[in-house]
Amino acid sequence: MTKEEFLYEISEKIVGLLGLDFQPNQWPDMERRVIAAANDLKLNTSVDAIYEWLSKSQLTTIELNTISSHLTINETYFFRETTALELFTHIIVPSLINERRGKNERIKIWSAGCSSGEEPYTLAMILNEHFPELANWDVTILATDISPNAIQKALHGEYTDWSFRNTDNNIKNKYFTATAKNWKISSKLKKMISFSYLNLSKNSYPSSVTNTEQVDVIFCRNVMMYFTPQIIKEVSARFKDSLVENGWFITSQVELNDDYFSNFERVNYQNGIFYQKANKPKEPLRLKQNIQSSVVRTLTTKEKPKRELVSTLTKKVVPVSEIRVQPAPISPETYFQRGEYKNCIECCLKNISQGGLNIKLFTVLIKSYANLGMFHDCQKELSRIINSNEATADMYYIYASLLNEQNDLTLTELNLKKAIYLNHNHILSHLMLGDIFMKTNKRNLAIKHYENIIRITTDINENEIVPQSDGLTVGRIKELSESIIRKL
Ligand SMILES: C[S@@+](CC[C@H](N)C(=O)[O-])C[C@H]1O[C@@H](n2cnc3c(N)ncnc32)[C@H](O)[C@@H]1O
Repeated sequence: MTKEEFLYEISEKIVGLLGLDFQPNQWPDMERRVIAAANDLKLNTSVDAIYEWLSKSQLTTIELNTISSHLTINETYFFRETTALELFTHIIVPSLINERRGKNERIKIWSAGCSSGEEPYTLAMILNEHFPELANWDVTILATDISPNAIQKALHGEYTDWSFRNTDNNIKNKYFTATAKNWKISSKLKKMISFSYLNLSKNSYPSSVTNTEQVDVIFCRNVMMYFTPQIIKEVSARFKDSLVENGWFITSQVELNDDYFSNFERVNYQNGIFYQKANKPKEPLRLKQNIQSSVVRTLTTKEKPKRELVSTLTKKVVPVSEIRVQPAPISPETYFQRGEYKNCIECCLKNISQGGLNIKLFTVLIKSYANLGMFHDCQKELSRIINSNEATADMYYIYASLLNEQNDLTLTELNLKKAIYLNHNHILSHLMLGDIFMKTNKRNLAIKHYENIIRITTDINENEIVPQSDGLTVGRIKELSESIIRKL
């Protein structure tokens, strides 16, 4: 067997074992990792021995654990990607509670690819904080991963400060106790979660054996981006079968893909897109008040959500205690959080006219216009503001994101280019341009932007969070760009 043939065979074995996608340009890296795994296991690392090892009909748990820990990426943190968590807090769980209260008081959540547990523990904290009523319900949070090491860490429940980079200190102090160096999770939270081993690329779900039937919400974020397209499609089909009617499938925003997830209905919420199972004529999730059920109906159609109404719903389900603690004097951000968009716009325009243009003001201003359905009417005003000398690359990017949501690709592209003109290294603008060029079949242009990201990120600490990115790290965006280029 030539070296090429050997590497091809190994990459195929890895797809079979873990579903992971290694393209030819990554084969040297894959080879290094496989050899490291064989070394850890004190196995012979010759080409023939490795081939023979991976050709075994079944690897032992220790072997699978070792190889998966060398080949997978376990990075995660508490309260990651807040839009998905807000959807969970303000739409999904309240809808389930209203639908099932007094009848079928159960909720099942699955964190698939949970790594060291930060994601399922985050969901448990949200349930505990916002929905005390659920203490008497049958609530299951199933958390699975292919890496027994990661599950072991989750069960141990001790975390370094780095896992809390997006966590409010009050929450941290409430649910964790300081140890000599780290933070240990409360036993109450631990009891809410059932951790187990599950390889998503295998056909072990839905099944009562793995407790993966009749699931209401699946969180599978930052996992499938490493799978081959074929495996992604298979996983997506099995997830659909695991879900109840109208159940939710939440991916990371960088994994959205209409081809892979065409078996689900797209749902827009805030700036994100999520998926919902809807293969029966839709029974809208019933909320108490008429206005709320009409909002959810809006949310579950393919149309864009009526932003004003979505926010009304969000506002209604925010616990009263939270609303009361709004700081005074009233800032534009506070008006925005309260859903008082007209007041917010007035306040922003006043501050901006007094020379106070900044990214926060500009963001809430355009989002308020969007929530009032006035985004298009106000574009003259917005472009006057943004074309002032004070505008920054971040502002052009935020403006472009909203234009992109309105499907105005021409103006989106123009504003992203302005962002890049101001800051050649504006990672998110390159990412969005890459995505637009992919969608419009301009492959070479798309590649150029993803290559730019790889170049820009080479010298940056990969754990740094990219501004305006909702918690994405430099490393994650780099990996994503590399994986897209491989697939192009
Ligand atoms: C980057 S972490 C994501 C953790 C968490 N979902 C998040 O978004 O923060 C990816 C996780 O997917 C797991 N994984 C990779 N391949 C898998 C497979 N075939 N089956 C199950 N889990 C897998 C890895 O072990 C790793 O813990």
